[in-house]
Amino acid sequence: MANTIVLGMQWGDEGKGKIVDLVCPAFDAVARFQGGHNAGHTVKFADRHFALHFLPSGILHGETPCVLGNGMVIYPEALFEEVAGVEAAGVRTEGRLILSDRAQVILPMHLALDRAREDARGESKIGTTVRGIGPTYETKAGRMGLRTGDLVVDGLERRLEVLVRHFEPQLKALGSDEMLSVSELSALCREWADRIGPMLRDTATYLNGLIDDGKNVLFEGAQGALLDIDHGTYPFVTSSNATAGGVATGTGVPPTRIDGVLGVIKAYTTRVGAGPFVSELHDADGEHLRERGNEFGTSTGRPRRCGWFDAVAARYSRMLNGVTAMAVTKLDVMDELADIKVCTGYRYQGEVLESFPAAIEILEQVEPVYETLPGWQSTTVGILDPSELPKAARDYLSYLEKLVGAPVGMISTGPRREETIVMDSPEMQGMLSQKLGAVLDHRGTP
Ligand code: GDP
Ligand code: IMO
Ligand code: MG
Repeated sequence: MANTIVLGMQWGDEGKGKIVDLVCPAFDAVARFQGGHNAGHTVKFADRHFALHFLPSGILHGETPCVLGNGMVIYPEALFEEVAGVEAAGVRTEGRLILSDRAQVILPMHLALDRAREDARGESKIGTTVRGIGPTYETKAGRMGLRTGDLVVDGLERRLEVLVRHFEPQLKALGSDEMLSVSELSALCREWADRIGPMLRDTATYLNGLIDDGKNVLFEGAQGALLDIDHGTYPFVTSSNATAGGVATGTGVPPTRIDGVLGVIKAYTTRVGAGPFVSELHDADGEHLRERGNEFGTSTGRPRRCGWFDAVAARYSRMLNGVTAMAVTKLDVMDELADIKVCTGYRYQGEVLESFPAAIEILEQVEPVYETLPGWQSTTVGILDPSELPKAARDYLSYLEKLVGAPVGMISTGPRREETIVMDSPEMQGMLSQKLGAVLDHRGTP
């Protein structure tokens, strides 16, 4: 029996969706604990292709119940659209999609404010996904947010009045005329309530009950550790806790019930949006990674910034999340490189820093210290036995294990479920409740 967290160790888009989809057969339920539709999780298998935003990647797996936890922010309009999309593709969601009655509701003015602020910031914009995420967590922390459960009880208008009073002057000052009146908002909420109502549940009680019954729950992270509001590259972060600690507050399942953390990490680094990125490449190698890795945002289509593997950041992330094992993704993207660099340290004012600095002013000034390793220059796509990987690729992975301080438990060599190595290691067997066989069956063969 194991309750396992799958989360991103970098700045998001590590391939969490793919990994969650693959390991699903070892779990009885999948729960998201933070974020909203700023997430874009891609799942590919056979000739199928899904891009999920709110829905946990477990939705594609049989009858697995999928939970949207209290730590999430939900825009009902976009949730309905996503549900309709997967239903049209033959995925049944009714009765399987369980929404916390304590998640925050994203309203049109949260979206409008996110957009208006980004426009007003000009050069210094954060590069948000403009999904209203920041403003919604702000009203949550400001104790004026609307929760999913509020949609179906009396007193909605009173709450909406407070929100309108909060947003109206801000939007006006930014030149936005997108403010809705209390009655317009109220009508919208009533419309949403009819569809949201049947999904609502006290999900903390539900999830803890599953665990009481000996079931295994998988927690699916969105974004990545370095986008965490507390531990990331603040202020160039998202507005939730994307690190392991977010599971406890974002679902109500306490830390004492969590058994392992599978940290998803690319074999190199990407970032979308603004903010410091020490190992960023602005040359042909960076361009190669972007093209070969198809590094364009799942949610926004923006080109992702690309760079070498940053072991300083990865080590920090390993510590913050207590990573049990790593799922290293996109190894195949490096197949053609002659030389591969790894950032092993940050040099700042003549000294090599021991830890990940808090201030972005320092992160923007540090110089990466690189170690160069030989590339393997042969294809790794679809290799299923780790001993069949080219020696230089195995050496590269061993080097990353040593630098980061966590074992490699999975290696992904293509976007599809079938293109993944799963190690038969104690860490993986433990996190998968000894159901490695079921996961391998689910993977199939290419
Ligand atoms: P997530 O947000 O962490 O779920 O990741 P995204 O889905 O946003 O981005 C990962 C992208 O890489 C998607 O387009 C995946 O289909 C793709 N992908 C995942 N793993 C691999 C891999 O091992 N190799 C290659 N070439 N692509 C991968
Ligand atoms: P997944 O789950 C990559 C980034 C945005 C921006 C910052 C703040 O697919 O890994 P926000 O809209 O959250 O206020 O934007 O965070 N960001 C992501 N980058 N992957 C994501 O999700 C992201 N979600 C947010 O680009 O820099
Ligand atoms: Mg993504």
